[in-house]
Amino acid sequence: MQTILGIDVGASGIKGALVDLRNGKLSGERFRVPTPQPSTPAAMASAFAEIVEFFGYKGPVGCGFPSIVKNGVCHSAANIDQSWIGTNIETVFGEACGCPVFATNDADAAGMAEMRFGMGKDEKGLVILLTIGTGIGSAMFYKGHMLPGTELGHLIFKNNRVAEVYCSSGARERLKISRSEWADRFNEYLHHLERIFSPDLFILGGGESKFFEQYKHQLTTQARVVPARLLNNAGIIGAAAYAAEHQKEH
Ligand code: BGC
Repeated sequence: MQTILGIDVGASGIKGALVDLRNGKLSGERFRVPTPQPSTPAAMASAFAEIVEFFGYKGPVGCGFPSIVKNGVCHSAANIDQSWIGTNIETVFGEACGCPVFATNDADAAGMAEMRFGMGKDEKGLVILLTIGTGIGSAMFYKGHMLPGTELGHLIFKNNRVAEVYCSSGARERLKISRSEWADRFNEYLHHLERIFSPDLFILGGGESKFFEQYKHQLTTQARVVPARLLNNAGIIGAAAYAAEHQKEH
């Protein structure tokens, strides 16, 4: 199957689109619904089903989810309702929309898309993709192979501060600091990651990547830093690619 529905579940919005997996492009419009608050499994399942229904879609659905995901089960809840922990995302969303759902971490999905269709294509070294939104998600690749489930947004640095609490978009909004002040913080975080992993390339995705031109001069690591080519659609495209790969196992 070449066209699959990808849905990127975020802490503030749930976005879906049909994705043509031959070229990694959206094959139509995006549809977004705000993430319900509180973001309980039942409330989010209705929002998820609304998106599937909007597209009148029947078939495998890929889902990028903002938590640790193992075998379809949610194992953390930094920016979503705590009742998600231990919940099977694939079952809850699958029952709500009547389609088989394949769930993976949102940043791993975005990374997969960028490596296949975007800025990571043909990159042979160590690549770290960071999604900057309500939280910070990460995906790590070496010679094109992913180390799944990294949670670099939860790295502790700067006197016991959690990275995503210090320098996500969410932190910028919460602290009411300028984008330039935020970028200085984010640069400190990139330097910390560089000290630990020595990556060759950082790819920045998520909502904040749209403003890359405004702050790129403030990012001073030796590793190259580029915005994701697929920008905020990387999560949707990667989710669809994940479903395409995993449906074969069923
Ligand atoms: C979660 C990650 C997720 C990231 C971006 C973090 O708080 O722990 O799993 O990838 O937010 O949504």
